[in-house]
Amino acid sequence: MCGIIGITAKTDALSAIVSGLKALEYRGYDSAGVAFFGKNGLRIVKAVGRVSALEEKLGEETTTCGISHTRWATHGEVCEKNCHPHVSFGGACMLVHNGVIENYAELKKYLLEKGVTCSTDTDSEIIAHLYELLCDGDPVTTLGRVANALEGSYAIALLSALHKGEIFAVRRSSPLVIGRRDNASLLASDVTALPNAELYYLEEGRVARLWAEGVDVMGKRFHSNAIQSLSAPDKNGYDTFMLKEIYEQPQAIARTIADIPKKGRIKGEALLLGCGSSYHAGLACIPLVEKCTGRHAEALLASEFICSHALPANGQTAILLSQSGETADTLSACAEAKKRGYKTVGITNVETSSLARAVDENRFTKAGAEIAVATTKGFTTQIVALAGLFVKDEESLRALHSLPTLAEKVVRLSEKTAELVHIFLSAKCVFFIGRKSDYGVALEGALKFKEITYIPSIGLASGELKHGSISLIEKGSPVVVVCADGKLIAKTLLSVATVKARGGVTVAVTCFEEVATACDYALRLPALPADLSPAITVIPLQMLSYYVATALRRDVDKPRNLAKSVTVE
Ligand code: G6P
Repeated sequence: MCGIIGITAKTDALSAIVSGLKALEYRGYDSAGVAFFGKNGLRIVKAVGRVSALEEKLGEETTTCGISHTRWATHGEVCEKNCHPHVSFGGACMLVHNGVIENYAELKKYLLEKGVTCSTDTDSEIIAHLYELLCDGDPVTTLGRVANALEGSYAIALLSALHKGEIFAVRRSSPLVIGRRDNASLLASDVTALPNAELYYLEEGRVARLWAEGVDVMGKRFHSNAIQSLSAPDKNGYDTFMLKEIYEQPQAIARTIADIPKKGRIKGEALLLGCGSSYHAGLACIPLVEKCTGRHAEALLASEFICSHALPANGQTAILLSQSGETADTLSACAEAKKRGYKTVGITNVETSSLARAVDENRFTKAGAEIAVATTKGFTTQIVALAGLFVKDEESLRALHSLPTLAEKVVRLSEKTAELVHIFLSAKCVFFIGRKSDYGVALEGALKFKEITYIPSIGLASGELKHGSISLIEKGSPVVVVCADGKLIAKTLLSVATVKARGGVTVAVTCFEEVATACDYALRLPALPADLSPAITVIPLQMLSYYVATALRRDVDKPRNLAKSVTVE
């Protein structure tokens, strides 16, 4: 989603700002803009579309201090007017904002009463006007007062016309990281945009001031909690980050297994919460969790949990799954679970994320940076980390340790899905079906497929197909059948027959010969431990989506309208 990068340096900072924006592209955005100190004071340049369009507009400009933003539209359509940075009515400041201002209507009314009218459809513009109205000459105290008047979530970076070379920043419930690198101070909404820097995490509600030689927070020089960020991610010879990340799964799974503590298994009832693929990972693990605990377990969408009746927890543990650790719905679900008395455990890939700081206990996936918007290694490592919270008997532990080798084999086998692309290219709708653990995988397969191919797809519990969706099956409709559980062969064969009787084209992803031969096409997998199989069976579905999307010339790493981490509810 929206991204922020700001730099103040002793030498030209504009090209570093543009590189920072490019590093943020993976999060998803629809327009970009930059504000900077030019020869004649503050300047703004904006462009709809890719950062490269903004770069072209910037031409030969230079600056030593600027802030910039990639916007993913929430309030108001995608156009230059709504694109950040926003400028205050008298030009006292320019700012960029991530998050949502919940008392926006009220503040807009207050501004109107003061004779200030807004010219964009965004909630962010009002912050700039409010700053100028409340300005007492000191940007730090003014921004502090502005922040106190705001409700909702925000990460704000601001340039004051009278404070050349300085950037002011404040955050609440939205990430903002400060970095120091070679006589430059930087800030960004995502560490990916700050490679090779010493990082500082800005506390909620505190105002930071950055200049080329240093950073202070509310007047105190800032030099604690320094962490070195990683170097910039690269594709390592692959055409796309997504393909690279698919191939990295065996190592990512192995690293995650190696990180599972010897002790600390969850024994009681568990509630698994997440969004998108993280929810699917939770759902796919329910059979495993129930088998290990002998107790009821449930997976819920984080966004639904926060709207559900606030029944108090009864000794249950809420497990919050989030690759980024910044998904707004999951963070709200965490707060809500705590309120209802659940013990909270987070599974995230980012140790410094908001979720990691909010939960009672943490487990981390060791996927490494995931850049493609459509998650792959994020999902498979979540399955492993979740299993690590429950699996204790020797047989299951052995099965867990066999996953990296199985993943290695299946990544190679999945290359064969390239031969199946023709079945899908002109499909009106593609179906993914499975039961139990395979149901979660079917949902994930369908999500991956629609995310990057833009072909409608539906993930279904096999048993549900006949209760409505079967009306969509016609001659040639592709149906991907996932089956990794020997106890489900008979039922799966029945689903296959039902689909074939209506002209559907069935593609099996299975370790069972009976299912493979019953289907029109098959990807035969090695024998898998049924309850842990989601970490493996999803791989061919990722690869299939990838090949179909590539054949359709889609922007695989940055699919339209999608954001890597969705920081609004
Ligand atoms: C977005 C992404 C999905 C992801 C979901 C949850 O919608 O596009 O790929 O599964 O957010 O993200 P999280 O970081 O919480 O796992």
